[in-house]
Amino acid sequence: MPSEIILIAAVTVDGFIARHSSEIITWTKDLPLFKKQTMGYPLIMGSNTKNTITSELKGREVIVVKRSDNPRDILKKISSKKCFVVGGGKTYSRFYPFLTDIYLTPHPHIFGEGVPLFSDKIKSSKLTFVKLVEVPQQVGIYQYQYKIIKA
Ligand SMILES: NC(=O)c1ccc[n+]([C@@H]2O[C@H](COP(=O)([O-])OP(=O)(O)OC[C@H]3O[C@@H](n4cnc5c(N)ncnc54)[C@H](OP(=O)(O)O)[C@@H]3O)[C@@H](O)[C@H]2O)c1
Repeated sequence: MPSEIILIAAVTVDGFIARHSSEIITWTKDLPLFKKQTMGYPLIMGSNTKNTITSELKGREVIVVKRSDNPRDILKKISSKKCFVVGGGKTYSRFYPFLTDIYLTPHPHIFGEGVPLFSDKIKSSKLTFVKLVEVPQQVGIYQYQYKIIKA
């Protein structure tokens, strides 16, 4: 199992990752950063997210999870030290117990409704702030990096 299991997401100010489950996301400004950070590492995503991806994720193994998959078994098969859980809300929730880090980029939108970061009920966790990363060439958009403190 990887020692770093990182959730990476773009969120609205009111905590949504999409307007609906089949939205093709066009509002994110952090894709070059996403590419740089995830390059060479496995990406775990749910089937809804897979269906919304329009560009090729070159240089990264893409692991698409179905409801019949067990998150622990998926992770146990990964030999690299680091992997990324890239969404959507259902998949973030299912892998939540195994996450070590959260990389979150708030975007200047309020959707009011949609797919929340965690769409299933999860337990509470404390986070420690690690780093703020400026999103290149985007005024006022930053990625917040946190470590999850395991209870
Ligand atoms: N803003 C961002 O950073 C970001 C990142 C990624 C995705 N997104 C957006 O998020 C949206 C998709 O998110 P999502 O939450 O709808 O889907 P998702 O997590 O991408 O995919 C749904 C996953 O949940 C499983 N599932 C469905 N029903 C289940 C059940 N009853 N019990 C257990 N597992 C179940 C599915 O398995 P089956 O295949 O078996 O149905 C699939 O693995 C899209 O709009 C996408 O564009 C945004």
